[in-house]
Amino acid sequence: MKKTENQALVIFGASGDLTYRKLVPAVFDLFMNESLPAGYAILGVSRSRLTDAAFRNKMKKGIREFAHYKKTDAKTINEFLSKLFYLSIDTDKSEGYALVKEKLDELNEKFNLHDNYIFYLSTPPALYSLIPKYLYEQGLNLQEKGFRRIIIEKPFGHDLASAKKLNLQLLDFLEEEQIYRIDHYLGKETVQNLMVTRFANGIYEPLWNRNYIQHVEITAAEDVGMENRGSFYDQAGALRDMVQNHLLQVMSLVAMEPPNKITAEDIRYEKMKVFQALRPFNEEDLKNNLIRGQYMQATIKGKTYNGYRDEENVPKNSRTETYVAMKCFIDNWRWQGVPFYIRTGKRLPTRVTEVVIHFRPSPQPLFESSGIQPDNQLILRIQPDEGILLKTAMKVPGRGYTVKTVNMDFHYSDFTDHYIPSAYERLILDCMTGENTLYMQGAAAEQTWKFVQPILDYWETNADAPLIGYSAGSWGPDNADDLIEGEENRWRYPCKNLADDGIYCVL
Ligand code: BG6
Repeated sequence: MKKTENQALVIFGASGDLTYRKLVPAVFDLFMNESLPAGYAILGVSRSRLTDAAFRNKMKKGIREFAHYKKTDAKTINEFLSKLFYLSIDTDKSEGYALVKEKLDELNEKFNLHDNYIFYLSTPPALYSLIPKYLYEQGLNLQEKGFRRIIIEKPFGHDLASAKKLNLQLLDFLEEEQIYRIDHYLGKETVQNLMVTRFANGIYEPLWNRNYIQHVEITAAEDVGMENRGSFYDQAGALRDMVQNHLLQVMSLVAMEPPNKITAEDIRYEKMKVFQALRPFNEEDLKNNLIRGQYMQATIKGKTYNGYRDEENVPKNSRTETYVAMKCFIDNWRWQGVPFYIRTGKRLPTRVTEVVIHFRPSPQPLFESSGIQPDNQLILRIQPDEGILLKTAMKVPGRGYTVKTVNMDFHYSDFTDHYIPSAYERLILDCMTGENTLYMQGAAAEQTWKFVQPILDYWETNADAPLIGYSAGSWGPDNADDLIEGEENRWRYPCKNLADDGIYCVL
């Protein structure tokens, strides 16, 4: 494992929600796990006027609510907080950046930071190209003595053209190896486990291809709605918010060839090949292999939930999708003809992210007359109840051959001496050590935009392209099952707990 050198983490957008809920709690957990170096400092930068003390107080609340070690004694939390500082500047104007430099010089001296700085951009995307420019003007991009790295939050671009433009703008001020584009799904322990399951076991890989796999499902369901993000979300929609990044990243890990070695270069190379092999949607696909939906008001267990158009900051005539499902193909030898079904949506019955591998049935259905024809599924559960489940056929005891599908499952919670670190904990630590495997390359970000761009264009230019309403708390548009090939086949309707399924089972 690479060493964590002394360094400062500078968070732009420090008064925002992400810093409060995710970033500082994650760094605190790193502190508790003794993963931080001896010399470190955190500098929050934002427009809001806050003193160091007020910033620390706010972050303490965030830690108490969201950190894994939220119950830590006050003295230890205060010790961590004593290295948090705050600077208020106009982040969209060049002038304030001299103050950033001045403050960093001071912290560098005081905490012996060896000139190593990470800049985390957790700001509105309009600042993603400006902040690197202003840092550059102060020489804060130069790696003469220490390292300079920049983490860029999503969304990385709004479409293919803006992602390309942003990549070019960043490269005016930084080298590609200094840029860490975040996709927090890649930091999830169970997403990384996809590679371990596939490549550390000898038994799966021989079956992991078109000869044995009938189709693959990738679902990211959320029960939440807009959560005060109406104005952002209405400009984005589910395709941009979840598919272009998180779900295509998961798909690439399911579909990639084994890398030569577990290095950033080899893994990114294999993932890129998957993105390049994604079959672009043509007219027919846009009409037949794509469903978009928007949630409508519904009353669930006595509580009434707004329809999307009634959410705060959402126009009454919005055509933004809160649900998308699609059938796609990867044009290479391994996957030719195997459909990959992807779906994601807000206000679905439960929060579940999982991959379901459906194996082909046995060639001759010997036991069909006495029971069901078993459908072997391997379910890789990303969250919650993280784990893995294989559905396999068994004989029911007694006369004759009655066959039943049973579950063989493993739950991460059985690793009793480990907790699952948050994605941000893992990703921030990786950046601190200069490990960029789990961050996106510029070219990969462009390639995934390239795949979704025809869909965005189609919706943009076809006012009558279907947008189907679905009741809040349902599994999305009624016709979603029709996407799946094979009369009997439909989506798995997962429950919160891995082992169960059934349309409205939440548990
Ligand atoms: C974010 C999206 O990237 O991912 C959100 O902007 C979404 O809309 C979130 O809710 C889901 O992340 P997770 O980790 O809760 O699955």
